[in-house]
Amino acid sequence: MLNNHSSVDLQERVTPPCAIVIFGASGDLTKRKLVPALFRLYQEKLLPEQFAIVGISRSAMSHDEFRQRMEDAITKYAPSVAANQEAWHNFAQGLFYVPGDLSKQETYQDLNELLQQIDNQRGTEGNRVFYLSTAPEHYSEAIKQLGEAGMARPEQAHNKQTPFVRIIIEKPFGTDLASAIQLNKDVAAVFDEDQVYRIDHYLGKETVQNLLVFRFANGIFEPIWNRNYIDHVQITNAECLGVEGRGAYYESTGVLRDMIQNHVFQVLSLVAMEPPNSLAANAVRDEKIKAMQAVRPFPVNRLDEFVVRGQYGAGFIDGKSVIGYREEPGVNPESTTETYTAMKLYFDNWRWSGVPFYIRSAKRMPKRITEIAIQFKEVPHLLFGNVAANQLEPNVLVIRIQPDEGITLRFGAKVPGQMTKIRWVNMDFLYHESFDVKPPEAYERLLLDCILGDSTLYARRDMTERGWEIVMPILEAWEKTQPEFPNYLAGTWGSPDLDWLIKQDGRKWRKL
Ligand code: BG6
Repeated sequence: MLNNHSSVDLQERVTPPCAIVIFGASGDLTKRKLVPALFRLYQEKLLPEQFAIVGISRSAMSHDEFRQRMEDAITKYAPSVAANQEAWHNFAQGLFYVPGDLSKQETYQDLNELLQQIDNQRGTEGNRVFYLSTAPEHYSEAIKQLGEAGMARPEQAHNKQTPFVRIIIEKPFGTDLASAIQLNKDVAAVFDEDQVYRIDHYLGKETVQNLLVFRFANGIFEPIWNRNYIDHVQITNAECLGVEGRGAYYESTGVLRDMIQNHVFQVLSLVAMEPPNSLAANAVRDEKIKAMQAVRPFPVNRLDEFVVRGQYGAGFIDGKSVIGYREEPGVNPESTTETYTAMKLYFDNWRWSGVPFYIRSAKRMPKRITEIAIQFKEVPHLLFGNVAANQLEPNVLVIRIQPDEGITLRFGAKVPGQMTKIRWVNMDFLYHESFDVKPPEAYERLLLDCILGDSTLYARRDMTERGWEIVMPILEAWEKTQPEFPNYLAGTWGSPDLDWLIKQDGRKWRKL
């Protein structure tokens, strides 16, 4: 869908032969997401027979041991995909492994030799996708080494006749603005920007992609998608999960870094952007960055009016008691890391002038839900008397990203009877009812797009830096103050202090 030839269907795209090299192959992401996604693509015949997957990490392992490890993982994490034994057997022939230290030149020599053998044996034609899924502190080293080993080949990237080399970089992309800029520089020293695919798995979600279709394939929404009709926008990203054994990682991260400056801002930019001229990767990304450049900087001396932070204490999720953040393994018992952030943003441009965007993202909420709610303005003149009017609330358009993927339009309708009573009714579109297929996993779509050379659903250099630029004043201010944590209970939607952010404007969070 979203490639340079805008209306080409996914099925019509021909996947070229290719070797995918996963750095950090003994990590969780490889077994939980990457290999299951590649196996699914293989089963759906979206990967050609001329493919190879090369895992690389420090652990000593033979090709066969790696194959066995991946089979065990797939049986555990993606049992429905694993069921087809014959397909797995064929797929596994394309799995290879190189043990090695990423800071040593020999590792890249070994890798290069193996890749050349694979080109000969499996017909991968010298095409490469390098996937950086190591601990982030090794990214720059691996990139530099690939360059020194002559494996990055940027000068050939533009020539369609010569093999391609692309690099996918997992999140987190830096830990602040300075480190993101540095990482972008390190990448640019070795690769051309059109070889670089910075992953944000939210962009691979079917419902996030549908935002573009919903906005720009339908004529009725665009005319009202602006300050004249919209009162405000609420974006909620709530998780029931806590930190799930990742306490040590989360301690240095927090929800602002982990979710908001990347995933939530990507969603936000798709809601706020202008229509692009085409669906070519750069046309879409130009509009997204233009929108984000219009985000008004937070006033540092009045930050409290724009941002709140929270951390969960012990509570109950689904009737079961759960521990507080500070009790989680790997977490400092006096931790000041936030697990809840809500903020109010304004776009200084014609479309959105004066329209607040309220964003919240948090862990240990009562429900897992990610949605965008477009709250329309009140009717300009009330016709139905006070009683009826009391029951009247402005229209809301809700785009549910997950779960229960779908779209709901809420409007008032007359309750049948002699009196004029108004009640809220919903007009619903549910993906699973309208389309009888399971949407592909985000990683499937994103990996396939990279092999096909379509970077529309990946973050461009400027966007990664802009995300950090917006949140830096918050991170800097928070470092200087001591929050009173915990300040909300696990399994609740927050606390009056946190809700104050939206209440101060006479509005409230939607009941979810
Ligand atoms: C990851 C974060 O990027 O996204 C996790 O590091 C978070 O902390 C996850 O749980 C949420 O992803 P999803 O797809 O389940 O909404």
